[in-house]
Amino acid sequence: MAQKNDSLRQLVDAGPAQLIRSLADELNVGYFGWGKRMALMTFGKNYSVGVQTIDDQHKVLFDIINSLYEGMMTGQARSLTGPLLKKLADYTRNHFTAEEALMAAAKYPQLSAHKIKHRDLVKQVEDYIARYDRGETTLNIQLLNFLRDWLTNHIQREDKQYSPCMIEHGIR
Ligand SMILES: [Fe+2]
Ligand SMILES: [Fe+2]
Repeated sequence: MAQKNDSLRQLVDAGPAQLIRSLADELNVGYFGWGKRMALMTFGKNYSVGVQTIDDQHKVLFDIINSLYEGMMTGQARSLTGPLLKKLADYTRNHFTAEEALMAAAKYPQLSAHKIKHRDLVKQVEDYIARYDRGETTLNIQLLNFLRDWLTNHIQREDKQYSPCMIEHGIR
């Protein structure tokens, strides 16, 4: 029986399951077998900026990037990637506008430097989308790693800096 289980295991490990497992390893996300894959990104307290509306918007950005990851892992990448990348760029622009308005309301002293970061981040995604639209690149692990870092680094390095100022001005 043990031997039979071993050969079954080898079958399961071969082919697409093996491929997905190695992709999951490369992206450093959990993998529990077919249909039980963990999301690429999980929103936790470590990403909270202490302002509910902003946290909610950041969660939507996490969701969009997770959907891109899901699309790639389930082989639906081609039909989903274009619309999802556009949604990511649109939502990002709206989020940045909303975040800048709150920083202005809180008279946040670093607002202009933060706006420059936002413009740079939007440009990075727009450049990628333009390359994707021209067929110069596809949805791949490098892009997902880039998007994950693109979002989480900004939240943890820049967004979190405005928290005390916002909270002090009653924005939460
Ligand atoms: Fe920001
Ligand atoms: Fe943000």
